[in-house]
Amino acid sequence: MPLKTLILATALSGALLSAGASAGELTIGFSQIGSESGWRAAETVVSKAEAKKRNINFKIADAQQKQENQIKAIRSFIAQGLDAIFLAPVVATGWDTVLKEAKEAKIPVVLLDRDIDPANKDLYLTAVTSDSVQEGKVAGEWLVKTVGSKPCNVVELQGTVGASVATNRKKGFEAGIAGHSNINIIRSQTGDFTRAKGKEVMESFIKAEGGGKNICAVYAHNDDMMVGAIQAIKEAGLKPGQEILTVSIDAVPDIFKAMAAGEADATIELTPNMAGPAFDAIIAYKAKGTMPPKWIQTESRLYTAADNPQAVYDSKKSLGY
Ligand code: AHR
Repeated sequence: MPLKTLILATALSGALLSAGASAGELTIGFSQIGSESGWRAAETVVSKAEAKKRNINFKIADAQQKQENQIKAIRSFIAQGLDAIFLAPVVATGWDTVLKEAKEAKIPVVLLDRDIDPANKDLYLTAVTSDSVQEGKVAGEWLVKTVGSKPCNVVELQGTVGASVATNRKKGFEAGIAGHSNINIIRSQTGDFTRAKGKEVMESFIKAEGGGKNICAVYAHNDDMMVGAIQAIKEAGLKPGQEILTVSIDAVPDIFKAMAAGEADATIELTPNMAGPAFDAIIAYKAKGTMPPKWIQTESRLYTAADNPQAVYDSKKSLGY
């Protein structure tokens, strides 16, 4: 084969798998954040199942909430020459160097469930995420509709500082309540997306706000923090879901259990199946060179007590949450 043709053929085979290649030949690494929430646990379980369905060799590295561990895992995936890397970025910034390394090694990177700094869009193939600004907005609009013109002091439990979803869910909620001067966020602090931290921060809010009497509603960036907050409200002798309204995000089984007991009011669903669409995008890219859209958006849906929470709990309880 002439040298020019050989170089072209080699370059092409690096970018595309041969027509007969199957997903079973792919090895994909996933740098997962950790297991801070029920939703995260379900995402890990669902990712493994989606890989198995497609006969993909799937390696998961648990970063235990640390960006430095995620960077190490990505470097190890690059050194192993994997076919693709999935990344759930714990925070939005600080990825440029390692993602450039993956790009140089011609390993496509797919972001799962969280975004990175928009300036770095060319460093990843696609992002499979929900519209997290919209999730916050839906939460805010639900509260506006629920309280009407009544004055309402809100306390906010934020997700991990620097995480795209925490920034966006805050921004979205503020947009949802904008123009309703009867609704005010009086306290806002991170609960790190965990149940324990959600409870601890809610206890301090209750203490600072007249034993909870000044609080009309809690907005939590995820259900796990809300489950912790509900516990704190009950321990303070108040009725969550009634005396203090609740709205949060994820739609994990435990929030439906609380809703069925009248202790939670609303949640916005985040699908734990981010990996399925990501695998399909990689398979098409490797097999046919198909470029996926830069953003593969997953659906979000509002659930309230009107949606038969017990039935939703029963349908979700064995899904890996
Ligand atoms: O990035 C998604 C968020 O991360 C989930 O809403 C939260 O539960 C998780 O920790």
